[in-house]
Amino acid sequence: MGQPTRHFFVCTNERPPGGKPSCGARGAAVLQRLREGLAAHPELWGTTSVTASGCLGPCFDGPTVVVYPEAVWYARVGPSEAAEIVEHHLVGGAPVERLRYRWPDDG
Ligand code: FES
Repeated sequence: MGQPTRHFFVCTNERPPGGKPSCGARGAAVLQRLREGLAAHPELWGTTSVTASGCLGPCFDGPTVVVYPEAVWYARVGPSEAAEIVEHHLVGGAPVERLRYRWPDDG
């Protein structure tokens, strides 16, 4: 396994109910989808990583994913969005523009 050149981080941070929202189980489901996508493509194993992460910041818009080195952010990722990210970004190498999250000060 070489050094990854593309790295997907998926927030799975879990907070107690009643406070600020967290990606939690919904993030874990996204993580699972991405892992399955990577598992199905051995040609990517040497260059692509998928890793669970703690809170990435946009908790109110979760589940949240960030991809480096592109610094492409995705938010509100559900099962169908996760499938699209797998197909187009993880396997295809191109960000899914429609699903990109823009930070408030991001122009
Ligand atoms: S809890 Fe997932 S981004 Fe903060």
